[in-house]
Amino acid sequence: MCLGKLFRKIANKAVGSVMGNDLSQDLTVAEGERYVTPGIGACIRRAGAESCVLLKNDGVLPLSPDRKIAVFGRCQLDWFYVGYGSGGDVHAPYLVNLMDGLTNAGASFCRPLAEAYRAWTSANKVDPGWWGHWPFSHPEMPLSDELVSAAAASADTAVVVLGRAAGENQDNECKSGSYYLTDSEKAMLDAVTAVFPHTVVLLNVGSVMDMSWTETYGDRLSAILMVWLGGMESGNAVADVLYGKVNPCGKLPDTIARRYEDYPSSANFGGKDFNDYAEGVYVGYRWFDDHPEQVLWPFGFGLSYTSFAVEASAFERGSVTVRLTNTGTRPGSEVAQLWCHPPRAGLDKPQRVLAAFCKSDELQPGETRELTLTYDDRCIASYDETAHAFVLDPGEYRFTVNGTDVGSFALSQRLTVEQCQPICLPPEQLRQRILERMPKPVPASRNHGVKLGDVMARRASPDDFIARLSDRELEALTRGHGMMNSPLGVPGNAGVMGGILPSLRAKGVPPIVCCDGPAGLRMARYCALIPCGTALAATWNTELVERLHVLVGQEMIHYGVDVQLSPGMNIHRNPLCGRNFEYYSEDPLLTGKMAAAAVRGVQSTGRAACPKHFACNHQEYRRNCTDSRVSERALREIYLRGFEICVKEAAPLTLMTSYNKVNGVWSHYNYDLVTTVLRREWGYTGMVMTDWWMRKSASPEFPLLRDNAYRVRAQVDVLMPGDMSRTAKRYRSDGTLLKTLGKPGGMTRGELQRSAGNVLRLILRLKG
Ligand code: BGC
Repeated sequence: MCLGKLFRKIANKAVGSVMGNDLSQDLTVAEGERYVTPGIGACIRRAGAESCVLLKNDGVLPLSPDRKIAVFGRCQLDWFYVGYGSGGDVHAPYLVNLMDGLTNAGASFCRPLAEAYRAWTSANKVDPGWWGHWPFSHPEMPLSDELVSAAAASADTAVVVLGRAAGENQDNECKSGSYYLTDSEKAMLDAVTAVFPHTVVLLNVGSVMDMSWTETYGDRLSAILMVWLGGMESGNAVADVLYGKVNPCGKLPDTIARRYEDYPSSANFGGKDFNDYAEGVYVGYRWFDDHPEQVLWPFGFGLSYTSFAVEASAFERGSVTVRLTNTGTRPGSEVAQLWCHPPRAGLDKPQRVLAAFCKSDELQPGETRELTLTYDDRCIASYDETAHAFVLDPGEYRFTVNGTDVGSFALSQRLTVEQCQPICLPPEQLRQRILERMPKPVPASRNHGVKLGDVMARRASPDDFIARLSDRELEALTRGHGMMNSPLGVPGNAGVMGGILPSLRAKGVPPIVCCDGPAGLRMARYCALIPCGTALAATWNTELVERLHVLVGQEMIHYGVDVQLSPGMNIHRNPLCGRNFEYYSEDPLLTGKMAAAAVRGVQSTGRAACPKHFACNHQEYRRNCTDSRVSERALREIYLRGFEICVKEAAPLTLMTSYNKVNGVWSHYNYDLVTTVLRREWGYTGMVMTDWWMRKSASPEFPLLRDNAYRVRAQVDVLMPGDMSRTAKRYRSDGTLLKTLGKPGGMTRGELQRSAGNVLRLILRLKG
């Protein structure tokens, strides 16, 4: 065996043994269903189907079951169910690929072709790669003219599947096989479109890839359906849409540009040390609305097998009611998208911003539903960096729903919607700000022997308990147990915090178990694999996303998982970001609403969600080294906005910082992000944890502080998974937090107690 292969084998085995890859992959669906929460498979299937976005249809879809199809592309069997890394890696007890789904749907397909793919894919297995070096795509089966012509002789409709995935620590690349088609994929499209009168293309992708070839093939492509990475029920969900059991009702959560270079961030992506967010607030449609020639399919686009009309019904400031009618011939759902077109005076602004959206239930042909869409002024305001305030400039604010004018209001003068505090201050000002807000220590308590159970039973106050904790115990509450797969939690967990010392456990502090991630629970147990974040966003169905996450919460209860390290909610700034599949959209409102739905769902079961990565994790290349250099306006209007909506609407109990720096300060040391904005401006009362391990650094503001002390001063409460000690002995403190405790210029007991208090409050919510 060559050295490279041996290395991969060892690396995969090491990750596999931690994360449970040795679970059997040979269960049948019926056997597998026993391992997941009843009903979750149906919900995943529904979400997968609702996520499909129909980009083009000349009438070939929906297919009728007796119309024979010929299915091309190896992904029909080697389907991409999710992306790679911590946002994937869920041990689904069963997986339904496209051919399974078509078979279940009773589809009539060209069997010799299907057999050829089956034989070829089993002789040419996919290369699984290894951590951070996974395949973006798999080599295609070479197609002989005879095979294609024989298929065309028995079927008039071809279905071609193209697949892509990327992952954690691995951005997509501007290369063939990743962002671009491979030569063998082009050859497949050439051969198929040359002989089949109808070709339907399915895009089994986690984020936008180059689609310029759709123009080259033009009318030779009859239909194009984005089917994303739909989780373990993918094949059933796609078949539901192809055969019209579910009328396509997904909408694009991202703009599909004509060329990669058209994305406004493309000139500033992939930097080794930093990326300038030179495009400011002009991300996604905020840019493309002024450059329509660069757009193949706009944000919010998605066709249906029926048609809808929108009529304005009532309009007032903050609330718009419309009548939505199914004017076509098939039942279907539609998304009402409320857009605000602000005056382009005062601050430079995009043409329009999404102010609200609402998905209807299924309407029968001719049926009408009244939908009310509400928004607040903050959704449509712009951030003025000079005034440090969200403002509405004077002029006319026009509103449309799906292209129909629904009303407007005018302002004669500028309105300040919210006054904020300046952030990203220079060190001296930041130092003053922090010193002015130093927390007081919890007063000493005479309540000896108080246990956490006494606090839960309201026989003692949280402060009584905190006051009795030793410095060592307080310190231990601010870091995790040390390693992933902690013996204190379910095998394959991502880490454990809380009761990590025997003395804490003796006082009744339980270990709190955290598991990834956005696509379902990642651990050494079977668990449901749900559609990826981008797919969920494409449903535009918050109610469905919430329902799905209630079921995920039930799985957490079953396995003793306290915190789901999800949702991932960074903005799709650039289509190459490897973790886009985990995240939702280019738009902060859609992102925030989806994340809020996911958090509400999980937390309704008494478990905790953990939105991440706060903030500006937009590339995986050197993700823990790069600095995201972004204006305060773009931060507040675009990159923090989704988190703000999620925090204000769903009150997540925990939140995870990102690896990168934001304007020169690592997120896990970023006082202004975590304390000034998150806690003080947005009223967040939960616990904040780091992403897994963190870059070490000294505090520029407080020369005595570094690493964990610098972090706790920012109120990033818990280092995960803990252990920065670099000693052979695990699960130890690195000493940086207690070293300066009580010394002039050092850590204060009040700060330590404040973070320990944030952790204990979480525990009381989870276990109390
Ligand atoms: C990822 C997080 C994840 C954590 C635990 C990190 O590498 O960035 O998103 O939750 O690992 O697996």
